[in-house]
Amino acid sequence: MKNLNVTLTNESRVGEVDFHNLPFGKIISDHMFQMDYDGENWVNPRISPVEKMSIHPMNMALHYGQSIFEGMKASRSKEGVPLLFRPELHAKRMNASAKRMCMPELPEEIFVEAIHAIVGLEKEWIPKIEGSALYVRPFMFAMDEMIGVRASFTYKFMIICLPVGPYYPKPIKLLVEQHYIRAAIGGVGEAKTSGNYAAALYPSKQGREKGYDQLLWLDAEKRKFVQEVGTMNIFFVFKNEVVTPSTTGAILKGITRMTAIEIMKDKGLTVNERELSMDEIVSRYEAGELIEVFGTGTAALVANVEEVKYGDMFLRFESKNWDLSTSIRTEINQLRYGTIADKKGWTVPAKGIEMAV
Ligand SMILES: Cc1ncc(COP(=O)(O)O)c(C=O)c1O
Repeated sequence: MKNLNVTLTNESRVGEVDFHNLPFGKIISDHMFQMDYDGENWVNPRISPVEKMSIHPMNMALHYGQSIFEGMKASRSKEGVPLLFRPELHAKRMNASAKRMCMPELPEEIFVEAIHAIVGLEKEWIPKIEGSALYVRPFMFAMDEMIGVRASFTYKFMIICLPVGPYYPKPIKLLVEQHYIRAAIGGVGEAKTSGNYAAALYPSKQGREKGYDQLLWLDAEKRKFVQEVGTMNIFFVFKNEVVTPSTTGAILKGITRMTAIEIMKDKGLTVNERELSMDEIVSRYEAGELIEVFGTGTAALVANVEEVKYGDMFLRFESKNWDLSTSIRTEINQLRYGTIADKKGWTVPAKGIEMAV
């Protein structure tokens, strides 16, 4: 990246962090990356100490919601090398979100180089403890100052980094949501845009009050077919096949989902991406064919589901059967920590600022 301007902090905060006790999403590293879209070009890439920013009251992102983001994790090898996992897929997905939200795309190489630069710089912030990681949050939002519904001309792209512990330290309970919906075909469910998460807050709160960690969303039209979970895609392991809902426009195309599918196919398992109704899930559960259910996502990686509540029914899953999810979690972790051969080149060392300037 040409013209990357770097201002380093005088005093790192990394020594103050208790890496054995990391809450999710509360601690931010020393530096952030930012770059501006001036209406025609992406300009002024810079890394600077994290600080508060001032926003104009007419900032269009605040009013009309042009705001998208990504979430990825950096880990470090035993030798201390900072590692990224499939960063180019996050660059592609952010651009797919940008397109849908009428925002400018960011050249993939700029996105990837910026990730290399900031993660390399913040490598001391990558936790050494297994299950913990440096969560990397690239995001883009409108910067025009105007009241009136139209696409903004100017934007800001930023990356911040947060050392995090495990997202769901325990197995989770899901409530099938039969009234509210997350996304409809033709809407923005496939985009990683802030409004999708805002829309889910109220129903999720009600679910939590009933004792459920997350909602399992159904399709908007018939409330029949499963879609995904709040921040994860979902897999159902039957005796003869693994099924995950197909990404037909209303589901986020999870990168962990794609990775898990590839790992399972390499193991010779039958993985079907298709429509899956709650009726089928219940009847195959009652027939003893449904063995385990798990969610996949960058934050949680692979989360085991111990209970699914659907209306009056409880579907319960015993931990002694969680072999497949455990093996996928182990394999992804081994790849992310560089402890097994990475035949597909998914894990890449973060090159730091040197490559970026
Ligand atoms: C709604 C939603 N679905 C699925 C996922 C999982 O996607 P990924 O595996 O790329 O993190 C996420 C997290 O990013 C999400 O927010």
